[in-house]
Amino acid sequence: MKLSTTLLKWYSKHARAMPWRGHPDPYAVWVSEIMLQQTRVETVIPYFEKWMKLFPDIPSLANASERDVLNAWEGLGYYSRARNLHKAAKIVASKFNGQLPLDLTDLRTLPGIGRYTVGAIASIAFKMDEPTLDGNLRRVFSRLYNVTEFADSPAGEKILWGLAAQNLPRGKAGDYNQALMDLGATICPPKNPRCLLCPLMKLCKARENGTQELRPVLKPKKKTPHYLHAAAVIINRGRALLSQRPADGLLGGMWEFPNARVSGNPAAELAKALRSASRLQVKRGAALGVVQHAYSHFKVAVHAFRCEAVSIPKNKNLKWVKLSELDDYPMGKVDRQIALKIK
Ligand code: ADE
Repeated sequence: MKLSTTLLKWYSKHARAMPWRGHPDPYAVWVSEIMLQQTRVETVIPYFEKWMKLFPDIPSLANASERDVLNAWEGLGYYSRARNLHKAAKIVASKFNGQLPLDLTDLRTLPGIGRYTVGAIASIAFKMDEPTLDGNLRRVFSRLYNVTEFADSPAGEKILWGLAAQNLPRGKAGDYNQALMDLGATICPPKNPRCLLCPLMKLCKARENGTQELRPVLKPKKKTPHYLHAAAVIINRGRALLSQRPADGLLGGMWEFPNARVSGNPAAELAKALRSASRLQVKRGAALGVVQHAYSHFKVAVHAFRCEAVSIPKNKNLKWVKLSELDDYPMGKVDRQIALKIK
């Protein structure tokens, strides 16, 4: 039997229930695909449901404030996804009558929509015969065809997109793509693939060669750097001094306690580091604890201290925020933990 036929038969029995599956609105598929890009299905489901209540359609998202959008995304990470979704919704509202464009070249121009998302939306929401390729599909095809090329190289990408397209069943691309995602997540994970339960076991070249754990072949990873930061928690008359990060880049537009990178001794270096990073002058008080976090490309340990402000620069990014309103200001995981310590 053909790969896609066997796979679709398996999917008809084992498809996981998800709130966006069978959803009639392409917007729901779009939102889910953006949320799912770096985040597991179980984590995404409650965020998706809350999101669709807050922003049920493209115009409501286009008209929302950036703060409300980032607040709804808080905890999912990779916040540029939320900012791009928001930007794209504004473009769709103004340029495409509030409907995701059916022209895939137009779709691809929207912020945050790359080749994967185009394939997913086209096949799942628009029922077009389009392949797609995410981490799960890369791994599944690398194993099925025992691909030895680096899967994260242009040559490997080309092979894997070719395999995804070559096996696509006409008229059923949405189910086929999602079946591969489910298979990758449940039967064919990176470690300990459950080959004996796999409907494609007999077709799998890596299984035949005993190389399934060695596929996909990936380029050697660089070591992730480890940074040390010191943060100042400055509270005055029931308000904390927060700083808003620049609109672009890591945690763009989100709020944090003023902080700076230090080299080895956070307590000793805090005052000087803050002064040179942001001209904020403080007197350090008691230690509040350390918060660790792993981002995609580095790890950070943030040492937080109560501080008194000695001199505060006139700076649009700094704001005194009532302690009772800290929840309204979107923060990354590190700063939300510090905020919880002082509540
Ligand atoms: N991962 C990304 N999109 C998905 C989908 N539609 N179903 C299952 N897993 C996914």
